[in-house]
Amino acid sequence: MDWGLKNRVARIIRPDTGHTVMLAVDHGYFLGPTSGLEVPRKTIEPLLPYADSLMLTRGILRTSVDGNTSTPIVLRVSGGTSILGTLSNEGITTTIKEAIRLNVAGVALSIFVGSEHEKETLLGLSDLINEAEEYGIPVLAVTAVGKDMARDARYLGLCCRIAAELGAHIVKTYYCEGFEEVVRGCPVPIVIAGGKKIEEGDALQLAYDAIQSGAIGVDMGRNIFQSEHPVAMIRAVRAIVHKNVSVNEAFEIFNSLKNEK
Ligand code: R5P
Repeated sequence: MDWGLKNRVARIIRPDTGHTVMLAVDHGYFLGPTSGLEVPRKTIEPLLPYADSLMLTRGILRTSVDGNTSTPIVLRVSGGTSILGTLSNEGITTTIKEAIRLNVAGVALSIFVGSEHEKETLLGLSDLINEAEEYGIPVLAVTAVGKDMARDARYLGLCCRIAAELGAHIVKTYYCEGFEEVVRGCPVPIVIAGGKKIEEGDALQLAYDAIQSGAIGVDMGRNIFQSEHPVAMIRAVRAIVHKNVSVNEAFEIFNSLKNEK
């Protein structure tokens, strides 16, 4: 692997554990001011020391994150649709030149397998990889799930494999029953999204199950920043991802940290 590419991947996936806790705060790019992210800086600042990388758009990076941060950035470069329109009709919103100017560790784009715009988003991924690889920038492919798609191992396995075949360096998907099969069929590292906010204990169980099934980490948003105790939550998730603690131990960590100032 090209040195620059390898080095950037190592900024996203910690070489000492082979795992990563990415903090996803890119939701506003199609959802607007999502609950918990109304004032992005306020949400991001306390969590930044505990995130191995931050996934967000250039607009929120520029306005809501200090330029002197050492936290690696995975820049979302796809969008152009909203929750009111056809979500799968995304295009590229941000150039590679801009990504380089922002000194990012990687770029991210969503693919919509099985949707009306499947082909455009898959070719969009290929184009992005062709361009990003010229500069040694890794691409994270997000397997977006439309309302009608089943979140099962067959469908997610298909999406992850296609993303890897097209050259994605990391794939982000959803956890599902039989997740080992999804991992087995995907030759590049997989991180999982957290999905809608659930009870903290359940979200920790989800992270644990994903890691046990072979995911190399999480790219979690709402289950961290919509928690009443986001710092305690991200620290508990870290313990699962990097220290291989049990769900009970992680929940104890969450409970013992939640009232810390
Ligand atoms: C969706 O495409 C976005 O990338 C979200 O950031 C992603 O789904 C992760 O966030 P959450 O853990 O809230 O699902």
